Amino acid sequence: MLTAEQIKENWERFREEIDMYFPTRNTKLHAMYDDLEDRIVLMPASSIAHFHNAFAGGYVDHILRVTHCARVLHNIWEQQGSDMSGYTMEELMFAAMHHDLGKVGFPGEGNEVYQVETSDWHRKNQNKMYRHNENIPFTMVPDLSIWLLQEYDVKMSWNEYQAIKIHDGMYDDANKPYYVARSAQAKLKTNLPIILHHADHMAAQIEFERWRNSQNASPKPVAEKSKVQKSNGLKNLAENNPDVEKTLTDIFSAFNQD
Ligand SMILES: [Fe+2]
Repeated sequence: MLTAEQIKENWERFREEIDMYFPTRNTKLHAMYDDLEDRIVLMPASSIAHFHNAFAGGYVDHILRVTHCARVLHNIWEQQGSDMSGYTMEELMFAAMHHDLGKVGFPGEGNEVYQVETSDWHRKNQNKMYRHNENIPFTMVPDLSIWLLQEYDVKMSWNEYQAIKIHDGMYDDANKPYYVARSAQAKLKTNLPIILHHADHMAAQIEFERWRNSQNASPKPVAEKSKVQKSNGLKNLAENNPDVEKTLTDIFSAFNQD
């Protein structure tokens, strides 16, 4: 769980990282995120509690964790003597920040991927906190990530495109030809996709463990121990029958305190 203040802080950090890492593309990226902001700030990273970050603000929290893990793993590979000359830090950060962008859905009202699951049975028996919007086309997440970037006129390099496209590694059979090369020529020219895949896996595993440990925690999960009372609406969104209107009020007030 995240408090409204944590969600706000994550979003501000997310926007700052755009300026920090993408100085020539930040204007178009900010325009895209301005358009998607209302949805992306609150959306989860997955729909099932035991997957990862299936709560309000979970997406941005996941992305920030992946970018951090990617930087750490890049340094470890470099320290161990790997040839890091094939890509730039900007490319690694761009791929990390946008690998899951497709989870936001399509632009426009009502075209989100995740909708709050209101069935108590599904929430309690399947840990299903969100359901997928049945009114938008089915897509693989990387495909929609790339489509959205071109839709908002954000250019990307081949390294960035390839890393986003195959970031699920061998979990997606379609990626196999890139990872199981039969010749030296066919091998990946950079380690960027491997590092992003490992960073994503690491982040998702950490997020799962946090959820798992919160189930056994005593007396209460982190959000409930917080002194910040404004988190109640967000807690409701993820844990009980959702009170979306109250949640939005909490977020609004947190964002309007500046
Ligand atoms: Fe991810």
